[in-house]
Amino acid sequence: MNLREYFHSWEYTIDNPVCYPEPRKVQIVVRTAKPQLGGQTAFLSAPEFEVLYGGAAGGGKSYCLMLDALGLQFGNNARGEPMHDFGMAAIEHPNYRAAIFRRKTTHLQKLIDIGKELYKPYGAVFVLQRKGEPGASFTFPSGAQIFLCHMEQESDMENHQGLEYQYVGFDELTQFTLKQYLYLFSRTRGIVLNSKGINLPSRIRATTNPTGIGLVWVRKRFIRNGGWHCHVGKTHFFIADPNVTDVEDNPTGVMVGINHPEFYNAKSRTFIPGLLQENKILMEMDPGYAANIMQMGRKYERALLKGDWDAFGGDFFDEFDRQKMVIKPFDIPKHWQLIGCNDPGWSSQNAFQLIARDPDDNIYTLFTYYVKGRDPEQHARNIYKIIKGFPYTHGRMPSMIVSGRDAFQKKDRFAIKRTDKTYADIFQEQGLFLQEAVTDRVIGWWAMKQYMHNKKYYLFARLNEPLIDELIAAQHDDKNIEDILGQGNDPQVYDHALDCNRYGIMALPAPFATGQEDLPEFIIKKWGKKKKRHSVMGV
Ligand SMILES: Nc1ncnc2c1ncn2[C@@H]1O[C@H](COP(=O)(O)OP(=O)(O)O)[C@@H](O)[C@H]1O
Ligand SMILES: [Mg+2]
Repeated sequence: MNLREYFHSWEYTIDNPVCYPEPRKVQIVVRTAKPQLGGQTAFLSAPEFEVLYGGAAGGGKSYCLMLDALGLQFGNNARGEPMHDFGMAAIEHPNYRAAIFRRKTTHLQKLIDIGKELYKPYGAVFVLQRKGEPGASFTFPSGAQIFLCHMEQESDMENHQGLEYQYVGFDELTQFTLKQYLYLFSRTRGIVLNSKGINLPSRIRATTNPTGIGLVWVRKRFIRNGGWHCHVGKTHFFIADPNVTDVEDNPTGVMVGINHPEFYNAKSRTFIPGLLQENKILMEMDPGYAANIMQMGRKYERALLKGDWDAFGGDFFDEFDRQKMVIKPFDIPKHWQLIGCNDPGWSSQNAFQLIARDPDDNIYTLFTYYVKGRDPEQHARNIYKIIKGFPYTHGRMPSMIVSGRDAFQKKDRFAIKRTDKTYADIFQEQGLFLQEAVTDRVIGWWAMKQYMHNKKYYLFARLNEPLIDELIAAQHDDKNIEDILGQGNDPQVYDHALDCNRYGIMALPAPFATGQEDLPEFIIKKWGKKKKRHSVMGV
């Protein structure tokens, strides 16, 4: 098939010394559609292995992902000159295979519609999923194929075992788990050579809005994680973090420079922000679209129109204000109350926090210990050491430590070492005396939200990243809107640091001392009952 018969062409210069010593011209030739200036063109010409195009809804991201899968940028420009060493569009090669994923089957329809519009002019034939094939497919005259697949269950990724793709695209990446995403890395390979022996580059591409269940890992991998943040327009190189056994503990990996001994193992990654304003076509065809989103409220406006990665995750703690509540650590005066709280974890994270309260009822979470895969002795020893060495409290021990109920049960099946001791027994041997926390979820969340609402909730910066991540990501549960999504039973929802924080806050005497009048009737009723049962409340 000769692509030269019909095209739009579009030129773009990559001026990025990390990738290419000299500025490099890239031209994109498209027949049916042309990328819009801004994010779309940057996405189509990105040379990195792994690229996320993320931000505002309606920015043209899904459309662009489908366009990118054609691999037109590896072909010839309008004058018939090759734009890339490969010298032909990816879909002109019989062995080219691409797979584009949506989490849910029902969400594939939109991609199928875009595919029909974009691919048919290149001679593609569409077939709904055939037995033995990974998904619905577009087959091009050369034999090249683009599959549209879903991955509803985590295990659906195994349908792709043994297959090889040169292009893997994820639409709405925050709907997927990190495990699913990384699994497809092992399927991204394959030798697709041209007549001169040049191989077609393998690419992983994703698009997303800053909302959804996977927001935390996606943000860590592409936007920022602790002190690291992605410089837009720059290529970053990463290796997997050698210090973690489970990649979920560090979805970012370790950024390496060209002089790093492991640089040859590094993979390039970048992030391209998407803005609604750049989608001139949609703005013209549906000028009311932005106003529709504004109707959904400030948070949606921030996330979906401005592509703000902090607006969401969830809206459960909508009173949480990262700008004002995450503060620089300071010395905690001796007379301030100090308590500890613990959420035991065996295979999952064990969370521990120190919380201080000043005489005006402001509470400060000083640090969050968040470690998994250790036995209770090790956790206890670590935590004791951190408390003793913690500079802002000068090693002061908390007046009490409360913990989730699991710590008081003999749970052989969870124990790493078989023993008769409970978690609490083991902690006590290491000098940490645990008391049972008030574990009522709904009341606990209300107490936390109440402190936030009254602007009395603070966290020490840089020492509480897991807690901040979970605060921002927490979503309402559909079945019980007073609770967090999953109600504590969904392993995909991370709430260890939140549970820990709520135990600590409930252990502080008179947690509702302020803002009592704002509490709904049912909380006050429930609270009254609880008060009798738990002496740790102190009121
Ligand atoms: N380059 C383009 N050419 C033609 N139409 C486009 C282009 N980019 C986006 N559009 C249109 O804009 C609409 C919104 O784009 P979409 O990819 O769904 O946005 P997003 O995935 O960012 O929410 C699409 O339905 C598509 O018709
Ligand atoms: Mg989309």
